[in-house]
Amino acid sequence: MNKMEWKALRVSLFIGLAILGAANGNGYGESPGMVQSSFGDRIRRMQEELKASMVSPASSPSPSPQPGTSSPRIYRVTSYGADPTGKTDSTEALLAALSDAIQGPSKGFLMHGIRNLGGAQITLEGGTYMISSPLRCPSAGAGNLVIHGGTLRASDKFPADGYLIDLSAPASSASSSYNYEYITFRDLMLDSNYRGGGILVPKSLRTSIDNCYIAHFTTNGISVQSGHETYIRNSFLGQHITAGGDPGERNFSGTAINLMGNDNAVTDVVIFSASVGIMISGQANTLSGVHCYNKATGFGGTGIYLKLPGLTQTRIVNCYMDFTGIVAEDPVQLDISDSFFLGDAYVVLKSVKGVANGVNIVNNMFSGSNKGVDIVQLDQSTGPFKEIDQVVVDRNNVRGMNLRSTVARGSTQGNGTSWTVDFSSVLLFPNLINHVQYSVSAGTSSLFPNHCLRNTSQNRVVIESDVAVPASVFVTVDQGLTQ
Ligand SMILES: *[C@@H]1O[C@H](CO)[C@@H](O)[C@H](O)[C@H]1NC(C)=O
Ligand SMILES: *[C@@H]1O[C@H](CO)[C@@H](O)[C@H](O)[C@H]1NC(C)=O
Ligand SMILES: *[C@@H]1O[C@H](CO)[C@@H](O)[C@H](O)[C@H]1NC(C)=O
Repeated sequence: MNKMEWKALRVSLFIGLAILGAANGNGYGESPGMVQSSFGDRIRRMQEELKASMVSPASSPSPSPQPGTSSPRIYRVTSYGADPTGKTDSTEALLAALSDAIQGPSKGFLMHGIRNLGGAQITLEGGTYMISSPLRCPSAGAGNLVIHGGTLRASDKFPADGYLIDLSAPASSASSSYNYEYITFRDLMLDSNYRGGGILVPKSLRTSIDNCYIAHFTTNGISVQSGHETYIRNSFLGQHITAGGDPGERNFSGTAINLMGNDNAVTDVVIFSASVGIMISGQANTLSGVHCYNKATGFGGTGIYLKLPGLTQTRIVNCYMDFTGIVAEDPVQLDISDSFFLGDAYVVLKSVKGVANGVNIVNNMFSGSNKGVDIVQLDQSTGPFKEIDQVVVDRNNVRGMNLRSTVARGSTQGNGTSWTVDFSSVLLFPNLINHVQYSVSAGTSSLFPNHCLRNTSQNRVVIESDVAVPASVFVTVDQGLTQ
């Protein structure tokens, strides 16, 4: 469709809507208190408005609201003097808009002490704004606010430990409860210019980060510290802007998402460069639909690092680990399922105090290049796993990698009094078999031998009989269950 056709379509659309509105007796585009005008006048007026909006798309029809007035709570940053071309510093203007929004009209409260701003919006109006210090609110205790629609870029003077958006509570209004509640960051590109991070969310409740693109961070793209329920969704994070196979991949640093709190969710997120994709040190977080190709394991990168030994409580489902894997320290309650591991990516269980309890690594697909890489590995460099209970690594499928499992089946046949099935190349934990089931099939023999399980040492199952017999022996073993 060319420009003229598009214009014509928009005009006819407008007319269509105007007719609809007139039929309803509820004029489209009508502002409150306006005198009802004739139908023809209204169409003309709409066409004029349309023309005006096409001539200068950046014009803001309504001025920014003043606190206490009844105008809509849309805070346009250019009205505060912000420069949408990104050439001059807009820190003061953005802080002024933020300050007005946070201290603007509110009705009632969300959580105790959190004023309800009613859905006020700070719009970046599709501009790019350069800032030289973090955007921090002048006071805490506000909620139901949206910041959306543009780009923030750190200037060369931006502090290297700062975050472009920082929800810390100012010292004057710090309280023991939550800083903010239901703040939404939507449709934002955050460019940290290799100086610090993107968004810092400390002690807040129900924060949304939606359709954001966060790049050029050196510390964390997003850092969540205590609080609850920060939901990060449909977003893209990378230190360097690349689509994979970057010549500088070895040098990628920083962490894309750092969750140091509980009950957060990361869903449908791509992490395309960083040393660590997601670092988790709080409980009950869930990751789903996350695609990590941040830094290959071979270069020292980690897709997802679970640093909560002893109480992990993390669910990783339907994720795509692309040349980079998952590390879990002393996993206790961990689910990794229905995920795809490409490029010899694997899962490491790292022993800290030697505990692995309540771990499911099931129904995943692993694909590698026949280099003999195990799909699940143990890091016992600081000591062996000693307390292993309810660990299930099973039903994963594998191409070009070595299967490792906590449940295995095998068989052997021979003519004699002893049969050995060696599971040492497939069982995950060395020298650990908690359950054995076996059957002896002596189909061609007329004998009824007595037989028993003799030994499971070193993951080798030995069955013996009292008389020599030609037989097949079928064995199933399980490392996971101690009851
Ligand atoms: C990685 O960093 C090292 C040391 O800073 C530097 O010498 C090297 O050129 C960098 N490599 C790439 C590909 O950027
Ligand atoms: C099994 O071994 C015994 C001797 O140990 C032999 O007599 C018998 O023929 C063998 N049976 C088969 C099926 O090979
Ligand atoms: C089991 O086998 C190991 C060697 O694999 C041996 O050292 C041990 O004594 C055996 N145990 C029994 C009960 O036979």
